[in-house]
Amino acid sequence: MRFLKTALLAGALAVTALVSAYAQETKIGFIVKQPEEPWFQDEWKFADQAAKEKGFTLVKIGAEDGEKLMSAIDNLGAQGVQGFIVCTPDVKLGPGIIAKAEANSLKLMTVDDRLVSADGKPIESVPHMGISATKIGEAVGQAIVEEMKARGWKPEEVGAIRVSYDQLPTAVDRVEGAISVLKANGFKAENIFDAPQAKTDTEAALNAATVVLNAHAGLKKWVAFGLNDEAVLGAVRASESVGIAPANMIGVGIGGADSAINEFKKPAATGFVGTVIISPKRHGYETALNMYDWVANNKEPEKLILTSGALAKRDTYEAVRKDLGIE
Ligand code: GLA
Repeated sequence: MRFLKTALLAGALAVTALVSAYAQETKIGFIVKQPEEPWFQDEWKFADQAAKEKGFTLVKIGAEDGEKLMSAIDNLGAQGVQGFIVCTPDVKLGPGIIAKAEANSLKLMTVDDRLVSADGKPIESVPHMGISATKIGEAVGQAIVEEMKARGWKPEEVGAIRVSYDQLPTAVDRVEGAISVLKANGFKAENIFDAPQAKTDTEAALNAATVVLNAHAGLKKWVAFGLNDEAVLGAVRASESVGIAPANMIGVGIGGADSAINEFKKPAATGFVGTVIISPKRHGYETALNMYDWVANNKEPEKLILTSGALAKRDTYEAVRKDLGIE
């Protein structure tokens, strides 16, 4: 009898130990809208680094549309995740995402694309890390203006492709930042053409930019800017396909991940002149760390963190990446 009691007690203790070990395990989700894009691959890579350092489990899910996103959040809840970071495929899903997170008792932070409410205003209650979009757009504009000057171009003979994705506020801020600098340097407003992309990838940008180039074939010199490197690469590919030489094309992107770096590594320079490198390390590593601190130590993250960027070109990107710690 005594033996049985002891055995039962030992068994109960073992179960308790197991349960509390399970309860202590920290699991954090990281959902991104475009998992194949190098920027998001890098964010995940750096989030993994944080997970390794702190000893939590990172659950990475790609969600290209609202439906996938909603089931991804349920999926995280079912796996016993305590909090997640998301770059949503659609910022207007904001209130729905918040409700879904609450229903699954998940802490929520956003990265890159900030949620908006029904009236289109940013939802300030959800901690967010994004880039300082206007400033970075201005840096793009400045880089374009300097390259135009170096090539001796007159602003009035140049067309600009504004690769646009206007349903995303950070995209608008980025391109408008670039435009403000172009205009301040004598660029004619009527020579700036919208190329609305259906998706934020290179193919969609190529299609959109091709329409603009064909519609304004009288202009022989072009500049291009957009949301990210993929947008600008699309415009550069479009210029090549209609026979515009690299000497007559100036594209400056935003990002600095593999899409841009591979372009710089090509033996001959293309119309993709530069990129403002932003930090996937801060966006991946730091957000994951902040979420970990929130879940494990009840330390709430700052409500809004805006990160900066640094211009890089073919001949400077290695040094700039080193400076940013993202080699
Ligand atoms: C958006 C873009 C990405 C990247 C991030 C940076 O999400 O779609 O390509 O530029 O912003 O914050």
